[in-house]
Amino acid sequence: KIFSSLEEGSRFIGKEIATLIREKEAKGQKIVLGLATGSSPKSLYTELVRLHREEKLSFKNVVTFNLDEYYPIDNDALQSYNRFMKEQLFSKVDINPANCHIPNGQWKKEDIKQRCLEYEKMIEEAGGIDLQILGIGNNGHIGFNEPGSSIYSRTRLVPLDNSTRIANSHDFQNISAVPRLAITMGISTILKAKRIVLMAWGQLKAPVIQKAVEGNVTEQIPASLLQQHNDCIFVTDEVAASEL
Ligand code: GLP
Repeated sequence: KIFSSLEEGSRFIGKEIATLIREKEAKGQKIVLGLATGSSPKSLYTELVRLHREEKLSFKNVVTFNLDEYYPIDNDALQSYNRFMKEQLFSKVDINPANCHIPNGQWKKEDIKQRCLEYEKMIEEAGGIDLQILGIGNNGHIGFNEPGSSIYSRTRLVPLDNSTRIANSHDFQNISAVPRLAITMGISTILKAKRIVLMAWGQLKAPVIQKAVEGNVTEQIPASLLQQHNDCIFVTDEVAASEL
């Protein structure tokens, strides 16, 4: 779905989420959202906060699982995705903090495998992800699943590509301050979501959107694996769609 601006695209996704929350709420059920970080979802979170404040959208029945987090990183660090989510969304709506799950950049290294297994288990026990929100890296990564990630991958510790560390270095003092590792949901974790919405805005994303949507399904472009999901949409602005 191509919109003339990122604000319009974000309003569309916000509406979809609000409809899902209200449908589930009417049935007395919880809704499980998979959430993303980075600059792309910021306007979506602004829209969700607006819906909460102006249209009484409640997040009391919402359970969230975030895609990823740098490793290691302090939860309070400026670049931490735990901090990002609190600032952009969680502190501004009526969500129960106990329902918000994010991989933790302070997990002990020897515990990570077990923690990742537990993360997967928590998603399953919550009933699986109803709607997964995604951004896309310039190299086609989703979450921090870099090119070459297996379609069978689950939540795990991964090394970051140099291109990702360079792309994300503007948030840090310099490139050497960007962590070399991250914890991310796997491709198979993402593909198990019932619905997936990937968003991309701006000219820089145009080449990778073309490859992900029209190119071969390949682990070299992780987002292209989404072609195999039966309820996945890409929401873009006109420039991000300009090479389609
Ligand atoms: C980061 C995140 C991804 C995100 C991507 C794109 O590396 N781990 O989940 O989709 O970058 O970021 P942006 O939205 O800032 O372009």
